[in-house]
Amino acid sequence: MDMEKAIIKLTDDAKAAVAALDFSDVSGIQGKIDALMVRFLGKSGELTAVLRGMKDVSSEDKPRMGKLVNDARFMIEGLLKDAGNRAEAAVLDFKLKTEKIDITAPSVMQEKGALHPLTITRNMLVDYFVSMGFSVTDGPEIETDYYNFQALNIPSDHPARDSQDTFFITDNLLLRSQTSAAQVRTMEKVKPPIKMISPGRVYRADEVDATHSPVFHQIEGLVVDKGITLCDLKGILDAFAKHLFGEHTKTRLRPSFFPFTEPSVEVDASCVHCGGKGCKACKGAGWIEILGAGMVNRRVLQVCGIDPDVYSGFAFGMGIDRITNLKFGVTDMRLLFENDVRFLKNFR
Ligand code: PHE
Repeated sequence: MDMEKAIIKLTDDAKAAVAALDFSDVSGIQGKIDALMVRFLGKSGELTAVLRGMKDVSSEDKPRMGKLVNDARFMIEGLLKDAGNRAEAAVLDFKLKTEKIDITAPSVMQEKGALHPLTITRNMLVDYFVSMGFSVTDGPEIETDYYNFQALNIPSDHPARDSQDTFFITDNLLLRSQTSAAQVRTMEKVKPPIKMISPGRVYRADEVDATHSPVFHQIEGLVVDKGITLCDLKGILDAFAKHLFGEHTKTRLRPSFFPFTEPSVEVDASCVHCGGKGCKACKGAGWIEILGAGMVNRRVLQVCGIDPDVYSGFAFGMGIDRITNLKFGVTDMRLLFENDVRFLKNFR
């Protein structure tokens, strides 16, 4: 009988196909079993083809044929399921063998990141002034000509602009050349007493060399209240220098000029390396300049709506990069910006 033969052939074929499977081929085996599934049991597979012959089977043979077909389906399903289980086990076995972890091998050390030296210095400076009661404010790096220059008593034809040549975006917008712009922004908003610092990035049209960079960092300080004098400035900066470089550090003020402070001073600290005797680091002077400062110019107070007959104040601005170099003995500013890990590793 044709139908019966066809069923026997089908099961024989299925057995042969499963027997021919190569279970050592772990990457291909599952795909091959899936293909057999389609070939024998799929919608247009061989079992379906055999079933099509049912319509020609006499009604007395139908129950027997039906049972034979069902048995065949059951058997083929079982064969393929077993093959699937074997394949899974083979894949797992392969993985266990090849992905074995050697727990006796030396471990790969994770490199630990660290703060950039400039960040370390900035945090240290900010912490110190916060401990002295200063609040911290932020200012935009893209400034207007007004805040960066004019309100600081530097009109457009003022020679002080030469030393602070910067990058102009428009006639009126520029990359700030000094954090002093934050003084004006603060005094416009906050009325005295004011005691603030403002750290941030500043820009100048400078060529890169060991002591210059077109991008560097400053921290601005501003104190405005009734009766503030140069003594307060000297006192705070003296305490600051001692904190930064050690108890034996001395400070001195030298007359200087900034359009927005009057009088203006340059503050030096006794050389950290030689204690004031004179060495290579301080070029024999015994002193190292750490910042610029002065009493807030009356005109700046006025422009910000603060009465200079009632209030007075001092301001200072220091380079964070410079302090970093002094503190850590870095001799070339470029090292701070090149991000060479061999350099940065020293600050962990
Ligand atoms: N802004 C000045 C500079 O960049 C420094 C300064 C700040 C001087 C505050 C006096 C008062 O050189």
